[in-house]
Amino acid sequence: MSVTSRYREAWESFWREAPDGPGAVFWDAEPALTAARHLALFEPHLTDPGLPLVDLGCGNGTQTRFLADRFPHVLGADLSAAALDRARAADPAGQAAYRRLDAVEKAEAGALHAELGDANVYLRGVLHQCEADDRQALVDGIATVVGDRGRAFLVEPSEAAGAVLRGLATGPGGPPPKLAPVLRHGIAPGEVDDAAVPEFLTAAGLAVLASGTLPLTTTEHGPDGTRIALPSLWFVAGRAASA
Ligand SMILES: C[S@@+](CC[C@H](N)C(=O)[O-])C[C@H]1O[C@@H](n2cnc3c(N)ncnc32)[C@H](O)[C@@H]1O
Repeated sequence: MSVTSRYREAWESFWREAPDGPGAVFWDAEPALTAARHLALFEPHLTDPGLPLVDLGCGNGTQTRFLADRFPHVLGADLSAAALDRARAADPAGQAAYRRLDAVEKAEAGALHAELGDANVYLRGVLHQCEADDRQALVDGIATVVGDRGRAFLVEPSEAAGAVLRGLATGPGGPPPKLAPVLRHGIAPGEVDDAAVPEFLTAAGLAVLASGTLPLTTTEHGPDGTRIALPSLWFVAGRAASA
């Protein structure tokens, strides 16, 4: 199974047309407000920080470059070639490696694991907008890459974020300028039920080691000038001990 061509093209066209520069994309907040906070929650659960770290669905690589400053071997992987072009252009020193990967495609996740061995995985904002039929396969892909010794950190806008986003999209002035292109390209954010995420993890053979809530900082501002933050859920997961 792999993502539909409609879904893939939605991401390609989004990234081809996305404006350049820090903070131009809705979710592209500075790492001090995002990955840095996540690492504080993730690092205590790593069995081996020396394992490769895969930023799965890395987009333009803002968080990937931050992770590459802190871990010895970081790979940014994304479905979209246009996203990866941006990630590579923003990392001229090649601190991280980048590659195209459809994490829903079992053979691609398997090939990555065969090459890297067990890896730690960081995933921010990928599950909540993927197509309903792809969600379990995406989490299965994470479990494949993690293997026995890796750990995964997932942070995803929650159900409540879906309601916030729908409110913003249908406000009197229409969606705010950085959210409008996301919706125009046919990407549907905030669509996963909160209870479904741990169920996907369990069905993939992963145990939830820790979880919680966090505000997911965006780069967009509300009418009162404050940054819009979406409610989000985070999970640390690793291979469940076999019975
Ligand atoms: C909302 S963006 C988040 C980007 C990045 N994680 C961040 O926090 O800045 C979601 C990214 O996931 C990628 N993506 C979606 N489905 C994917 C899949 N099946 N395999 C790999 N990447 C995927 C998209 O191309 C997009 O770049």
